[in-house]
Formats: sequence, C-alpha cells, structure tokens
Amino acid sequence: MTKTISFVNQKGGVGKTTSVINIAACLAEQNASVLIIDMDPQGNTTQVYSNITDDDDSVYNLLVNNTNNTSINSLKKSTYINNVDLLPSNVLLSSAELDLANKENRESILKNVLKNNQKDCSKYDYILVDCQPSLGLLTINSIMASDYIMVPLHADIFSLTGLDLLTQTLSKLQTIFESNTTILGFFFTQVNKKETLFNEAYELCLETYPKELFKSCITTSTSIDQANATGQSVIHLSPQANPSNDYRELTIELMKKA
Ligand SMILES: Nc1ncnc2c1ncn2[C@@H]1O[C@H](COP(=O)(O)OP(=O)(O)OP(=O)(O)O)[C@@H](O)[C@H]1O
Ligand SMILES: [Mg+2]
Repeated sequence: MTKTISFVNQKGGVGKTTSVINIAACLAEQNASVLIIDMDPQGNTTQVYSNITDDDDSVYNLLVNNTNNTSINSLKKSTYINNVDLLPSNVLLSSAELDLANKENRESILKNVLKNNQKDCSKYDYILVDCQPSLGLLTINSIMASDYIMVPLHADIFSLTGLDLLTQTLSKLQTIFESNTTILGFFFTQVNKKETLFNEAYELCLETYPKELFKSCITTSTSIDQANATGQSVIHLSPQANPSNDYRELTIELMKKA
C-alpha cells in the first residue's frame, strides 16, 4: 500500500528539501517507486529534479481552480531517476494559501486530490511531500494528506523548542479533523558528530522522544550543496560520501517503520 510522508519543519533551512530529494533516490535504489509532491512555492525540489518554468502547470493547478480537471497523471514529470516522478511547484503556489482560504474543507484539499487520483497514486510505494518552512495552509494540507510526517532537525535550541509547537499542531489536527497522521520520526541533519552541542541535543531528544528519534543522522558535507547545484542526488554525485551512506541508512530505517 502507498505510504504518504510529509517532510515538515516550520524552521527554514533544516534539510526538508535535501532529505526528500535524497530519500527518494535511496528508495529508488531499493527498487521502490516514488512520487514527490513539491508543496513549497520556493520550488527547490522542482529545481533539482525538473526544469519547468513558471508558465507550466504545477501543483497549484491541482489545488486551486482545477477547471481543466488536471490529474496527477497529466501533471507528473519524470526525473532522471527511473522510479521517481515529481509533481512540480512554481511561484503561483505562493498565492494558494489566500486562494484556498475561503474554500470548504480548505485543509483537506490535497487529501481529496490524492483520493480522487487514487488509481494513479497506488502505482507508487511512497509519496514524499516537501513542505515550506511554515505551519500555514499548504503545510496543513500536506500533513492532512499524509500517513506520516518526518521532521529533519538541526542540533540547536530553537529546533528543539520548535518541535513542541509542531507536535502540538499535529495533536490539534488529530483532535479537530480526526486526522490519522502520525509522527514517523525526527532525524538530525547537517551534523558534526564531534560537536558537544550535537551530542547533547541528540541525548535530550532521545530522552524526550525515544520512539520517534531515528538513529541515523545526516553528516554535514559540501557534497550536498554540489549535488543540489548540479540537479542530482548526492548518492549519484558522490556515492561513497558520508551523507550518501547516511541517507541510505536513514532510508532503510524509514522502510522498516513505514
Ligand atoms: N547534510 C548537509 N550538509 C551540508 N549542507 C546541507 C546539508 N543538508 C542541507 N544542506 C544545505 O543547507 C541548505 C538548506 O537545506 P534545504 O534547502 O534542504 O532545507 P529546507 O528545510 O528545505 O529549507 P526551506 O525551509 O527553505 O525549505 C541548502 O543550501 C542545502 O544545500
Ligand atoms: Mg525546502
């Protein structure tokens, strides 16, 4: 059965996009088929895995004014990885929050789109959703449409306090909308394992969230920036680099949980 996982953190720059890009590549390496949904108007995943322009259709057409009955099948773009497809974002998506504000069931629009395209979605083992750095309507839609959320974290105090807000938001969605979305896990990114601060943050997080914290952490490395800049995953650019092995390990952990 298809598992839908949103990568969420209201904090910017913690590695949501990088993790979606690289976990998708690692899942494909494990022979899983993946659909990425880029729900971030910044369109960073789209920049790495596709080359659409702002005139092309995007997730915006699925969510708002879907008068042409745009389907997932017609919108999806293939990527250079055989088993990975993408529903692209573009800058129009930045107005979606306003455009959706007065719609009925405005927090469940993506969930209903996936339901209405169930035949197309069921071809994928995993759907990974890249979210923008906020807990606004686009992110709420992503969470509501997902079975799980994955939360990339930095080893700093703001990230750890932000985690409480995120878990409270999820609890509210579970109570108000009877959402079944649960936390698949937290994982640290851009890590230097020699740093005391990282080890303290890891221990603190492990104490508070023993079930949710992933063992695998993603090492900091310039190979990630190089991969993002050249439109590929790090496992293809530098197969033996530390973050490539880290993302492989994290993906194996993820597949055991979901
Ligand atoms: N393991 C890593 N080592 C070094 N640099 C990294 C690593 N992971 C991510 N980065 C870099 O950090 C920056 C932020 O990463 P990314 O865009 O994935 O974060 P994000 O959470 O998606 O950001 P936003 O909240 O803006 O969407 C990027 O420049 C990326 O190349
Ligand atoms: Mg991003």
